[in-house]
Amino acid sequence: MSRNAYIVGTGHGVPDGVITNADLEKIVDTSDEWITTRTGIKERRKADENTATSDLVKKAVQDALDMAGWEAEEVEGIIVGTVTPDYVFPSTAAIVADQLGMGKIPAYDFEAGCTAFIYGLVQAKAFIESGMMNKMIVVGSDCLTKITNWTDRSSCILFGDGAGAVAVSSEGPGGRLGGWHWGSDGSLGEHLIQPGGGSRKPASHETVDKIEHTIHMNGARIFKHAVRAMHDSCMKALEVDGTAKKDVDLLVSHQANLRIIDATARALELKPEQVFINIQKYGNTSAASIPIALDEARRSEAVKEGSTVVLAAFGAGLTWGGMILHW
Ligand code: ACO
Repeated sequence: MSRNAYIVGTGHGVPDGVITNADLEKIVDTSDEWITTRTGIKERRKADENTATSDLVKKAVQDALDMAGWEAEEVEGIIVGTVTPDYVFPSTAAIVADQLGMGKIPAYDFEAGCTAFIYGLVQAKAFIESGMMNKMIVVGSDCLTKITNWTDRSSCILFGDGAGAVAVSSEGPGGRLGGWHWGSDGSLGEHLIQPGGGSRKPASHETVDKIEHTIHMNGARIFKHAVRAMHDSCMKALEVDGTAKKDVDLLVSHQANLRIIDATARALELKPEQVFINIQKYGNTSAASIPIALDEARRSEAVKEGSTVVLAAFGAGLTWGGMILHW
């Protein structure tokens, strides 16, 4: 008998600190008007110096466990997509598994930039449909403000911190993980890169002086790629799923720029009420943006029983991906 994988719980966690566009006007040459019209962002959340990615993840995972009605010890595996783990090692997933009392289960981090949550869902689908696991947690979480160059006005206005998590089960009811698409093109990697701190350029006084431990981004190049990648990911995932555009109820896409979301919605011929948007509150939270939006959509009943939902993302790598969920 064929097995399916279902999202049976969702959750998210964001730090309390808020940075408004007016706050940014005080530190770089920008304006609320420019940021709003070019990106759709009004404010974003920022973790304080005592808060790391795992702190946000724990809240998101606990919410997802509660919605699923699971005890922590029932979870068989946890995976965390992030480019801003607490440490390079140990993994954020292992820290969270231990601190939430999940026991000695498999736990690992992986990175696919802002596409990480989709990559995580594809992994969960494989683990669960193959019978290797029955109850998994998939997380997307980042604290990009910790690696933001606050003197670069073209990037610092975009990013915020957060975590989103889902509980994925072999048993419904829930959001069934359907058709998907994922891909990458490493030849474009230089356009969105943190050059310092890896094995190519280990941390040194020189890398710090050159501000190489922060996001370096070619915004216009990423924008062009993103519009095409989001469109392709949606169309290919729909094709694999055997679902027509007209049968889509809601788009829950990566929240990077309102203009990119609008272009994707136009390609899918969706009405405004069929597009979930929270970028105005959180900015681009990287791997967290889709699971935070999915949790808010689920709790606000924008996603309900019978909904067909399209997820789509692009990010560092460069990577891209999409998945169809059937509630
Ligand atoms: N305030 C005011 N002016 C600005 C600002 C700012 N914050 N930033 C840039 N400008 C200026 C530029 O200097 C430029 O001025 P010039 O014409 O005198 O040279 C002008 O505004 C237009 O700049 P563009 O870069 O063409 O602006 P654009 O409309 O492309 O918007 C943006 C820039 C918002 C960065 C856009 O390109 C974008 O969203 N790109 C995608 C970025 C992205 O999503 N990155 C994350 C990827 S996901 C991940 O894995 C983290």
